[in-house]
Amino acid sequence: MQKIIITGGAGFIGSHVVRRFVKTYPNYNIINLDKLTYAGNLENLRDIENEPNYRFIKGDIVDLEFINTLFDSEQPDAVIHLAAESHVDRSITNPLEFVMTNVVGTVNLLNAARENWKGKYDKTRFYHVSTDEVYGTLGEDGMFTEETAYDPHSPYSASKASSDHFVRAYQDTYGLNAVISNCSNNYGSFHFPEKLIPLAINNIKQNKPVPVYGKGENIRDWLWVEDHARAIDVIFHNAKAGQTYNIGGHNEWKNIDLINLLCTILDKKLGREAGESAKLITYVTDRAGHDLRYAIDAGKLKSELGWVPSITFEEGLEKTVDWYLANEEWLDNVTSGNYQQYYKGQYNNR
Ligand code: NAD
Ligand code: TYD
Repeated sequence: MQKIIITGGAGFIGSHVVRRFVKTYPNYNIINLDKLTYAGNLENLRDIENEPNYRFIKGDIVDLEFINTLFDSEQPDAVIHLAAESHVDRSITNPLEFVMTNVVGTVNLLNAARENWKGKYDKTRFYHVSTDEVYGTLGEDGMFTEETAYDPHSPYSASKASSDHFVRAYQDTYGLNAVISNCSNNYGSFHFPEKLIPLAINNIKQNKPVPVYGKGENIRDWLWVEDHARAIDVIFHNAKAGQTYNIGGHNEWKNIDLINLLCTILDKKLGREAGESAKLITYVTDRAGHDLRYAIDAGKLKSELGWVPSITFEEGLEKTVDWYLANEEWLDNVTSGNYQQYYKGQYNNR
């Protein structure tokens, strides 16, 4: 039986990865290790919380003693590491928190794995989940490949780049069995509404202004979160040690076009006149250091491991809007309390 610690399993992508592994592999023992920051929510996993092959452990990856004790007592065979501070705007306000969780937390896990798995690196695996933002920004042409040089611009992407470098250093120096994947922007259910798509859906629904940074011309490459979780499954089980895979959906959208599409979908679903929701679009001060364009070449993952996205963006976006409209309680819960304070600080002076 494989025992896998999935870090950050109460977050957006982590909860989809946990659900997929718990449901697909009843013979695996899945431990969800999460600190439950503002972004972590056990409600995201209510449907599987009583499964016999699932356990939740609350803990902080920055706490070295806690991590060492956990490895000693649980003796996991693998780690799938998603725990992170993940929002660029928050990293601009508080970079140190990103260094602590994303860099120090990752090194703590690597150290525990290195110590505990000595003599059995061939039977264990450290899977580090990362982002395409480590590659920096593209101009009008080209795509990020696994060979693209790292060139991060935000404190978030700099901290993720640093963690990727540490994972590779532990592979090269100690022979740890490590794999890394760098994925493009995800969207889907259980996404905290500080990120563009859930924030826009929530604001349109509530007839609040939809903030568009700068001219809305920045481009992101969007992938449905369940396709990301499936890619992680495929890579975890099939990649050779030391390999890196880019994950993306060949699906580039200018922010303003994406928001207009959301407005059109929501006009229909909320029974509004065509064009009504688009009146909420409000241009605000640009994000500092705002990367212009991300685009992923996922050709290696397709040719070596056969992964391709399962649904189109239009299908995925419609499913996503339907989920947010059907799960008002989830949205109300996560947008109460601290969210209000964050929102004021982030948008009121823009
Ligand atoms: P998220 O912010 O929704 O969730 C992060 C989770 O990590 C939360 O449950 C939080 O409680 C937990 N966490 C934070 N600090 C912790 C700590 N010190 N100890 C233990 N747990 C802690 O993030 P997400 O969007 O689900 O992203 C997950 C991972 O995927 C991150 O590593 C991120 O860099 C990467 N990624 C995200 C995207 C995206 O579009 N969201 C794209 C590519 C890669
Ligand atoms: P985001 O969802 O924060 O993801 P990332 O910055 O990691 O790509 O933002 C996606 C894009 O949307 C990015 O170009 C910034 C922009 N954006 C807005 O225009 N308005 C907003 O309120 C937010 C949160 C983002």
